[in-house]
Amino acid sequence: MSEGRIPLAGVIGHPVAHSKSPTLHGHWLKSYGLAGHYIPMDVAPDDLEVVLRSLPKAGFVGANVTVPHKEAALRLADNVSDRAQKIGAANTLVFREDGAIHADNTDGYGFMENLRSGAPDWTPGDGPAVVFGAGGAARAVLQALVEAGVPKIMLTNRTRTRADKLKDEFGQTITVVDWVQAGNVIEDAELVVNTTSLGMQGQLELRVPLDGLQPGAVVTDLVYAPLKTHLLQTAEEAGCTVVDGLGMLLHQAVPGFESWFGVRPEVNLDLRAAVLS
Ligand code: ATR
Repeated sequence: MSEGRIPLAGVIGHPVAHSKSPTLHGHWLKSYGLAGHYIPMDVAPDDLEVVLRSLPKAGFVGANVTVPHKEAALRLADNVSDRAQKIGAANTLVFREDGAIHADNTDGYGFMENLRSGAPDWTPGDGPAVVFGAGGAARAVLQALVEAGVPKIMLTNRTRTRADKLKDEFGQTITVVDWVQAGNVIEDAELVVNTTSLGMQGQLELRVPLDGLQPGAVVTDLVYAPLKTHLLQTAEEAGCTVVDGLGMLLHQAVPGFESWFGVRPEVNLDLRAAVLS
């Protein structure tokens, strides 16, 4: 970026009005007193490439990408981080001085940081994890859990073939369990993760039987509206450590902000309050 130009960044989605990223990054820009702007950009899929190629020329230093552009952004990028490649999608783009687009995916990082801060006593080697769901969010969670060295991951999804495909991609630590059997493996889990949309406001509830939850287990839900899902409520009553999903959204934003604006921002209660308001 040329000397003296105010750095610009934003989130590209379609639609994008629901995105909390402008509030989040806006809060950090203000708290650190930085010159910079972060805006929502509603871009139709057909226009993504031309927009991405134009943004660096307009002073943009990078962007987040969200639904439905995460896979396309990965394909369009000039270079790609290993974790984005593994997940098969990008959520954070950094524009180099020459306009080249670097694609990263910080969702797995955000998931793991949220877990580490919400359940500091949990370590990846503690024992098996159970993961519900086999969509895009599950890919980021699996990348993080496999990389962290969780010894066994029991993956269960309504559509079994999607889980089988993830086992093929993410390796032998994954055991696929039929959706109707999900309740039976929970008692072996040190960590339980919901990556499905079940339990989200306006969606159906997660109906997996939860009586097997062990009091020492850590339970986390990627759903953050409501903050305390039925899964987390039940887990709390069973004596588990529960970690809500909002922190993942906050933590995944850290590496992008640092690359674009040059300050590694803190995830704290002020940020949570700003995003919830
Ligand atoms: P995301 O990128 O958020 O993961 P996705 O790729 O659409 O979104 O995946 C949604 C996940 O929620 C999937 O695991 C999906 O199960 P299927 O693969 O069987 O579709 C799961 N899901 C959504 N609605 C569900 C329902 N009513 N019952 C069970 N699982 C459901």
